[in-house]
Amino acid sequence: MKILVVGSGGREHALCWAISRSPLCKTLYCAPGNAGIKEMATLVPIGAEDVDALEKFAVEQKIDLVVVGPEGPLVAGLVDRLDAAGIKAFGPSAAAARLEGSKGFMKDMVAKAGIPTAAYGRFTDAEAAKTFIRKNGAPIVVKTDGLAAGKGVVVAMSEQEALTAVDQMMTGKQFGDAGDELVIESFLPGEEASFFAIVDGKTALPLIAAQDHKRVGDGDTGPNTGGMGAYSPAPVATADVQQKIMDRCVTPLVKTMAEAGTPYRGVLFAGLMIENGEPTLLEYNVRFGDPECQVLMARLKSDIVELLLAACEGKLAGHKVEWSEDPAMVVVMAAAGYPGSYKKGGVIGGLDKANAVPGVKVLHAGTGFDASGNVVATGGRVLGVTAAAPTLAEARERAYKAVDLLEWEDGFCRRDIGWRALG
Ligand code: AMP
Ligand code: GLY
Repeated sequence: MKILVVGSGGREHALCWAISRSPLCKTLYCAPGNAGIKEMATLVPIGAEDVDALEKFAVEQKIDLVVVGPEGPLVAGLVDRLDAAGIKAFGPSAAAARLEGSKGFMKDMVAKAGIPTAAYGRFTDAEAAKTFIRKNGAPIVVKTDGLAAGKGVVVAMSEQEALTAVDQMMTGKQFGDAGDELVIESFLPGEEASFFAIVDGKTALPLIAAQDHKRVGDGDTGPNTGGMGAYSPAPVATADVQQKIMDRCVTPLVKTMAEAGTPYRGVLFAGLMIENGEPTLLEYNVRFGDPECQVLMARLKSDIVELLLAACEGKLAGHKVEWSEDPAMVVVMAAAGYPGSYKKGGVIGGLDKANAVPGVKVLHAGTGFDASGNVVATGGRVLGVTAAAPTLAEARERAYKAVDLLEWEDGFCRRDIGWRALG
């Protein structure tokens, strides 16, 4: 088969890594990809958001399966376009991708499906939003309705902080149009985890759980990022908790989406707060997590292409997904300054040495080549040093051993990935 992966991050490198292990994959393309992906796929110089050019390429090259990594092209309707052109595409339609594209839509679906989540209100008027905040008090959480690159959420510990967030998001247009509507919800205590399922429109097959580290600094300090490291399994998501997540937060959603005429197909990423063994839904994402995907692909034993195809064809029922017992961890290396402004172009050495550590795979995110063919940093999150081992503690040792073999002046990482599980 000819397969095209869309995206250029660590998630897409992980997907290409897993897809290239499948005997079903004969030719692999990635648009636009990165320096690491180039070792296993032909890079196509089309941006992940360029829906027209992606459709044209897929049609001309007679691609058999398109796998969409990031949310942007999903929300923009890439899968609808490919479907209409008769090309199999893994990911939700634009209508179903609104689960991530609009928090208000998501909360309404969740309410309809009876899924446990924080109590909320939707607001298009700043004064009404403020009245709601004054009535409910702090802690309280203020979110932009639309996509804001993971930054449109303020967990306000004081009423004043919440009122200021309304001004910045709505009146101040801090996130542009994404803040024209706000969702304001009650604060949920507990420990956060990410759970993934693969869905074919009617059947949801559980994948596994992972835990991310959103803050940039050790001890979960500093600003939020796309994610600085992850590991799987997540001790907080016991088998019992995962069953509750499927029964309460995944299966009812899949049913409600189908009944609403917007069946969900693709990976469903449930962000959850878990307190005393009880999961409450924070949000859905309509794609794999990044960097969670890196540890999932390190542990996946089943043929991913078979699963993706079955999801596209509505034939997931009866499939089983096999995982390695070995835990995995990914440590993200970012460019100094991230998530603020950072320097690009620094040369990265030591990749072969790092990859030679047993159980380690260095997955690339923001990387490219300079004129001399050196691997250079081109983004904020740049590498995901991924390691598997018989225990999580050994996986951590291996990952940091590999990190220390990398030669990249501007790079930094958190040194405490896995602290919740390992102490
Ligand atoms: P979201 O993009 O909705 O997942 O929010 C980003 C982050 O804010 C989450 O990963 C949580 O850490 C935090 N958060 C969101 N909603 C809540 C809530 N209702 N209670 C506590 N923390 C929350
Ligand atoms: N790592 C969190 C996300 O992908 O949204």
